[in-house]
Amino acid sequence: MAGIVKNDGILIMHNNQLEIFIQKIPKAELHVHIEGTLEPELMFRLAERNGIKLKYPSVDELRSAYKFHNLQSFLDVYYEGTKVLITEQDFYDLTWSYLKKRHLENILHAEIFFDPQIHTSRGVKFETIVNGITRALHKGEERFNLSSKLIMCFLRHLSEKSALKTLEESISCRDKIIGIGIDSAELGNPPSKFTEVFKRAISLGYLPVAHAGEEGPPEYIWEAIDKLKVLRVDHGVRCLEDKLLVKELIKRKIPLTICPLSNIKLGVFKSMKEHNLKKLLNEGLIITINSDDPAYFGGYINENFLEMALALDLSKEEIHIIAKNSFEASFLEQKQKNKMIDIFRAAI
Ligand code: ADE
Ligand code: ZN
Repeated sequence: MAGIVKNDGILIMHNNQLEIFIQKIPKAELHVHIEGTLEPELMFRLAERNGIKLKYPSVDELRSAYKFHNLQSFLDVYYEGTKVLITEQDFYDLTWSYLKKRHLENILHAEIFFDPQIHTSRGVKFETIVNGITRALHKGEERFNLSSKLIMCFLRHLSEKSALKTLEESISCRDKIIGIGIDSAELGNPPSKFTEVFKRAISLGYLPVAHAGEEGPPEYIWEAIDKLKVLRVDHGVRCLEDKLLVKELIKRKIPLTICPLSNIKLGVFKSMKEHNLKKLLNEGLIITINSDDPAYFGGYINENFLEMALALDLSKEEIHIIAKNSFEASFLEQKQKNKMIDIFRAAI
């Protein structure tokens, strides 16, 4: 048991002890979309600053619209919200508002996704997005010693041609972006659709990841690892439906970035208790816990750890393994990984 004792569903040991336990563990976040950290309050401030009228008249009414039944129902709301992001300062403010709270969660390192096509399709320049985000990332490094990397995602509902164009645009910012991924509507948009763009990106030195097996079948995970040569699978929870795939992920040491609250809010699992994270861990997969789109799903990384620990009775050791995995699975250089793992060891 996880340092918590349950008796007929009543917690005897206080949740907040577990909360403190989780808070104190140094960790890395490897799956968070910067646009998914846009809290309604900031959305309204940016809308006002840029003279944009939102669909909802107030923060409360906007929040009450955050009821999703699948990935697409979320994406519709998420893309609508991004319309307030126009200037470099907007991207800076968005990123800074995420970072300034994250060091309180004991995050030492964050690998952050952004979706350039959402913005460039509205006329925002690629450099405007990247410069705003990286200015805040540098401040996070200086102010909080919070290390970070940036991963550009291609929208999989768009064409490979559009992804290739975006990849070429990114070259002027090559030194600011570590990797590439795919996200957005999974069903009907298999990873193989992006084989050529991933090949080209890898030749440019980008590290590949992909959302796969969130709503999509295990075949999509096979395609991500075989055709796109990904080094991590984002979500990947449906791999359990294919024993051979699980074996292969273990053999190739390909980590999964799991986002429990996201999975519940988007109906991937009916409840936290039904989440398969513990099964994945017991199979021997490299599992990490992440927040995905925390402003929309009701919690940042520590809430994701807490909810999983409570629902699945994770032991302290299991929580430690998951947190340590986050450093091992990161794109940090080995020396930096070792340094952070030393900090992690000292803290536990
Ligand atoms: N974009 C932002 N969040 C996403 C998710 N959970 N799945 C796919 N695309 C996304
Ligand atoms: Zn995601």
